[in-house]
Order: sequence, then structure tokens, then C-alpha cells
Amino acid sequence: MNSTAADISAMENDLSALSPAAANFLPKRHKMIIDGQATDAATGETFAVVDPTSGQEIARVPQAEAVDIDTAVNAARRAFESGPWPRMKPSERERVMLKLADLLERDAVAFSEIESVNSGRTVPNARAFDVDLSVDYLRYMAGWATKIRGETFSPSVPYVPGANFFSYTLREPVGVVAAITPWNVPLGQAIWKVAPVLATGCTMVLKPAEQTPLTALRFGALLEEAGLPPGVVNIVTGFGETAGAALIEHPGVDKIAFTGSTQVGHMIAAAAATTLKRYTLELGGKSAMIVMPDADPEITIPGTAMAIFGNHGQNCCAGSRLYVHRDIFDSIVEGVINFAEGIRLGPALRADTDMGPLVSWKQRERVLGYIESGVSEGAELLTGGHGATEHGAYVQPTVLGNVRQDMQVVQEEIFGPVLVATPFDDLDDAVRQANATKYGLGASIWARDVQLVHSLIPRLQAGTVWVNTHNILDLAVPFGGVKSSGIGRELGEEAIRHHTELKTVTMAI
Ligand code: NAI
Ligand code: MG
Repeated sequence: MNSTAADISAMENDLSALSPAAANFLPKRHKMIIDGQATDAATGETFAVVDPTSGQEIARVPQAEAVDIDTAVNAARRAFESGPWPRMKPSERERVMLKLADLLERDAVAFSEIESVNSGRTVPNARAFDVDLSVDYLRYMAGWATKIRGETFSPSVPYVPGANFFSYTLREPVGVVAAITPWNVPLGQAIWKVAPVLATGCTMVLKPAEQTPLTALRFGALLEEAGLPPGVVNIVTGFGETAGAALIEHPGVDKIAFTGSTQVGHMIAAAAATTLKRYTLELGGKSAMIVMPDADPEITIPGTAMAIFGNHGQNCCAGSRLYVHRDIFDSIVEGVINFAEGIRLGPALRADTDMGPLVSWKQRERVLGYIESGVSEGAELLTGGHGATEHGAYVQPTVLGNVRQDMQVVQEEIFGPVLVATPFDDLDDAVRQANATKYGLGASIWARDVQLVHSLIPRLQAGTVWVNTHNILDLAVPFGGVKSSGIGRELGEEAIRHHTELKTVTMAI
């Protein structure tokens, strides 16, 4: 059963359950890492970081403004232009990255607990997606450091008859990268940005989301121990409208790597236009799940439910729109509702919690506002729909039926545990509805007929199509979106390509 206000006795984290390493780290007045130095904001200002199960302050971090961003970008520029990092042998960069991975692995418990308290997600969730996956990605990308290469060509050059030429390409680091990351998988998203920067010999300024800056700062404390030269990775904390905006405008930045809202994605593209900075954008989504009549309900029901309720729906590729063939609509939706009602809401640190609060009270209000708007436009609340406590940022797992495709709840990214369910009559109808969104991050097909699956894949406007699964990401497999879901790809070799520039060399021989 869903928890309700009446049956909740203790929905706040019991911080005495933390390991000593996490408990000692949290209450500090933290500093940024600029040019290898622990640094306060120039103004000395700080802001509060809170535990979303209670709304209580757990730490304070520096509030960077444009002047601090300038210092950080200048440090990254110096490290790029005259520091050792871009000039080191690839195998030496590889070794530093492997050491960083080992250190992160060594401190995995503390990192997972800090992330859990700060983001409201359970410790196993933070461990899997922020820590273990980050360790793997650093190791995966460490391997790429020695494998970056160009191509050779034998040009014909028809207008210089008789002459011979030889051409080749070099892949050179793109330069200073500004990485701006969101709060839904805080350390994981940060390492998705850090790892290709390090593998390619770039330098960077990382600005984690203001809601969840702690694990990035804790990671910053490992850099020196791993042997990373100062200025290669600078970590600044501050708000999007000030620190973030200064970073994307800064002329010393060569490339922006961003994950977050489509709204800020538009601002980055506009800011980059004046200086022709490179940018990759991983933005919002409203991913469709199409369930065909031959789908296996035993896989489909838990699979589609976890696609939306995993990480509390705070997931860019969450399966937030469910389209089910009319013949099996009622039974699939009923199964998903039962699954939702079995999810135990509770404080992130408690071992029997399935789902903690959303990241912040603001996000809770946003999500509840969407649910209200849907219901007021005629959607049927099939389960959930409410917050759960007075202070915590909880939202019950929610399913809305009887939705029209023009409703906000169907068109806009809610970024919370809210599923909209719609029946379809035939394949063309399903494809039309699935594609009727500005987003194009993910889509999933739930079916057993392989031929049908193959015929459907090319028709879906999405950067990733999953079949009989959803939200499966691998570090070797490119990830990103089409349409308003973004530009470029992260992970795999694509990440290397986006962090390098091709230089062409042609010589007369
Ligand atoms: P946001 O896009 O404002 O924040 C993400 C990052 O961008 C943060 O580090 C923030 O400080 C930075 N930022 C904000 N404004 C900026 C600016 N003007 N210039 C430069 N950087 C800026 O996302 P927000 O407001 O936290 O969440 C709102 C909605 O955005 C969510 O409900 C969700 O729909 C979507 N979102 C999508 C994410 C994804 O993974 N694709 C992640 C986070 C949010
Ligand atoms: Mg915002």
C-alpha cells in the first residue's frame, strides 16, 4: 500500500545510521576545488544543502559568482595551455584515471551515503548509479586514453598531376570543457562528464546542480591523491542563473557539456552561437512505451512500472507515457497500478525503503502541480497523486488514465513518479501517438513478434529504442536524444569524438 500522511511515523532520515566517514564529511563547511586548492567564493557567501526527507540543512557550500567562475576557467585554461596534463603520455593519463577509479571504489560507502542523504534516493540506488557505474566509467574511459587515433589517406589531388601527397588526421583535445550537471544522478552525471575530459587530455570546470553538490566536492578531494595535476578538474558550486550562466558565457570555454532541462539547453545553444563553442546537450524526455498484444505481461508489468518509478521518475529517459493495445490495456494498467501500490515510500537511508522523496520541495510542488493540472483537465487518477508528509519532498507513485494527447501531463516532462496511460488500436495509431511529442530521448517496445519489433524500430523518433526492457544504459553504448531531447551523444566512443577536434595534415611526399 502507498504510505499516506496518516500512517507515516518517521519519514525523516535517521542520520545516526550513517557511517563515520559520511557523518564526518557532511556537516563541514565545504570548499570548491580551483587550481588544486580548496577555495571559498570570493564573496565568502555560502548556501545550504538540504536533506529532502526533512528539509533540514545538512551542509553549506560556497556560492560561486561570475568572478569565481572566471578564476576557475582561467585555471583550466592554464592547465590546458601550459600544464602537463594534455602533454602527458596517454598511458600516464590512463594510470591516473585508474587510480581515481580505485579511490572512488575505496570510498564507495561514504559516497553512496552522502549521495543518498542529499538526493533522497536509497543507498543501494546511489551505490549502483552514482558510485559503481562511475568507477566503471572511469576505468572504461581510462582504456580509451591510449586508443585515440586518426586515419590515413592517399589523396589523388587531380589538379596537381604528377605530385604525391599523404594525409592523416589527428584527434586533439577540444580544450577547456564547462560541464554543468543535474541533480537526478549527481555523481554519476558528473563522472559522465569528467571521464571523457580526462581520457582526451582536456581540462574542465564542473558545476554540479545546486541541490546536490556534495559528492562532486568529495570527488574533488580525491584528485590530488590520484596524481591529477592542479587545474585539470576544477569544481565550483553555485546557482544556475549566476554561476552556470557565467560559465556558459565565458570566452575561455571551448566546449559545454550539459545535462538538464530543455529550457537551459536552448540558452546554452544561444550562448554558444556567439563564440561557436562546441556543445553537447542531454536534455529532457517524455519516453513512450508501446505494449503490443503479444507482450509477455510478466516482463512488461514490472518492466514498464520500473521504467517510470525507478529513481522516482527523476530520470531523463523515464518511460513516462504508456501506450497499450486496447485488448490488453486494462490488465496491463491494473498490473502497473498494483506494482505502484506495492512501492514502499520512506526515508532514503532506511533499508526497507523502495522509494525516497524527490530531490527537493520545489520538485515535489512541480510534480504535484502537474498531477493537479492533469486531473483538472479530465484525467483520471488511477493511483497515487499526493505528497506524503508535511516536510519531506515525497510524492506517491502515480498513474493517470483517460488522458488526451494534448494535455500538459502527456506533453511535458514531469520528472517525477507519474505515468500517463493511453490505449491504442493499431500500430499506426501507436506510432503516431508515441512520436507526437517535442522530445526524442528513449522509447521502448514490449512485444514478442520479432518482425514487428524490427519494423517498428525505424519508425520511432528516439535516440535509444529498448525492446522488452527500458532504461538500460551501458558505458560502451552511446546515449543521447533527437528533437528537443538534445544534441550529441555521451558514453562510448562517441564521447571521445565529442571531446576531440580533428586536425587534418597533408604533406607533399
Ligand atoms: P536545470 O536545467 O535548471 O538545472 C540543471 C543544471 O543546469 C544545474 O546545474 C543548474 O544549476 C544549471 N542551470 C540552471 N540554469 C542555468 C543557466 N541559466 N545557465 C547555466 N546553467 C544553468 O533543471 P531544474 O530547474 O533543476 O529542473 C527543472 C526540470 O528540468 C526538471 O523537472 C526536469 O524536467 C528537467 N531536468 C532534466 C534533467 C535531465 O536529466 N535531462 C535533469 C534535471 C532537470
Ligand atoms: Mg532550472
